[in-house]
Amino acid sequence: MKVLVTGGAGYIGSHTCLELLRQGHDIVVADSLYNAKPEALKRIRELSKRDFQFYEIDIRNEAELERVFAEHAFDCVIHFAGLKAVGESVGLPLKYYDNNVGSTITLCRVMKNNKVKRIIFSSSATVYRPGVLMPVDETAELGCSSPYGWTKFMCEQILRDVVTAYPDWSVVLLRYFNPIGADPSGRIGEDPTGIPNNLLPFVTQTALGRHDKLQIFGNDYATHDGTGVRDYIHVADLADGHVAALQFVMNHKGCEAINLGTGIGYSVLDIVNTFEEVNKVKVPYVISPRRPGDVDAVYAKPDKAKKLLGWEAKRTLDDMCRDSWHWQSNNPQGYQEG
Ligand code: NAD
Ligand code: WQD
Repeated sequence: MKVLVTGGAGYIGSHTCLELLRQGHDIVVADSLYNAKPEALKRIRELSKRDFQFYEIDIRNEAELERVFAEHAFDCVIHFAGLKAVGESVGLPLKYYDNNVGSTITLCRVMKNNKVKRIIFSSSATVYRPGVLMPVDETAELGCSSPYGWTKFMCEQILRDVVTAYPDWSVVLLRYFNPIGADPSGRIGEDPTGIPNNLLPFVTQTALGRHDKLQIFGNDYATHDGTGVRDYIHVADLADGHVAALQFVMNHKGCEAINLGTGIGYSVLDIVNTFEEVNKVKVPYVISPRRPGDVDAVYAKPDKAKKLLGWEAKRTLDDMCRDSWHWQSNNPQGYQEG
């Protein structure tokens, strides 16, 4: 298949591009490089031993996006492009709505103009109303606690409405849980700018000595050890999930929301302990107050992905911790090392 990958230079996009190329698909990447480095694209080429075209564009720019579609006949679009910092979105809601919702509307319009009718969208477990029963399945009530979350909620609704209006479209809304890990080569991985918001980059940077201590946000949650529980999923499993979703959209019409998680919840302390054990490094930590907005536990019921896509996560927590550290220790400055 020939696939346009928006946001393909980013963390999840780069791993998915690599897997698509390995599986013999052709890709074209469109990314503004707002939160990514061209080095990631170079390394995807190096690992896959294949070439592909890259457009450095903001996909809200309709004329530039039209040019991409004029130059290629796509079977499908995988739409990763978006801003993802939950905390930042609270202070900068308009920036988030403009980028995430605006880009999705422009993309759908250009797809419509060019008769491209299949799209796989990066949604998030954050669309589930805080407090819903765990494990959460796709029928659970929706509702968000940040502008970022609402952008995902709104994009989902826009895509559902598009399918209602154009029933020959095929849309898959993939709701990711907590992606961590990296390609086992250690050549591509997560490269956040500034101080990381998410747990794993903070753990790896603390192990490197870049931070004195990891702050564990709360140890009085109703979980097995009091620290927050999440459904961590290896980014390479996510990449496989996208390849499976690509097969699915080729053979189905309509709109499906599908969880991509493992179904297993691990606590912050499980992560720290496993990371230390597998990698033989220390992650000094201190227990801090709860982070506002956090909940005790979030983990998926992953059955629908198995049923519809024939996909389930295969990698273990040991794999996730080992591969995260392999990437970070080989690239202490991320892609800046060149
Ligand atoms: P990322 O920031 O690494 O990748 C996103 C990419 O999109 C970046 O390369 C960025 O430069 C690009 N981009 C952003 N706005 C753009 C625009 N208007 N035009 C062109 N390119 C643009 O993030 P990621 O972790 O790889 O996440 C990919 C997608 O998955 C995002 O939509 C994110 O919201 C979603 N998601 C991520 C997580 C997570 O924890 N990483 C969880 C659930 C959902
Ligand atoms: C995980 C756990 C923290 C940092 C976020 C988004 C979600 C999705 C994935 C995009 C929690 C604890 C964290 C630290 C800690 N992204 N923690 N110390 O909040 O589950 O989900 O990323 O769609 O929408 O909200 O992920 O990695 O921030 O936190 O103790 O320095 O680690 O309290 O229990 P979260 P996270």
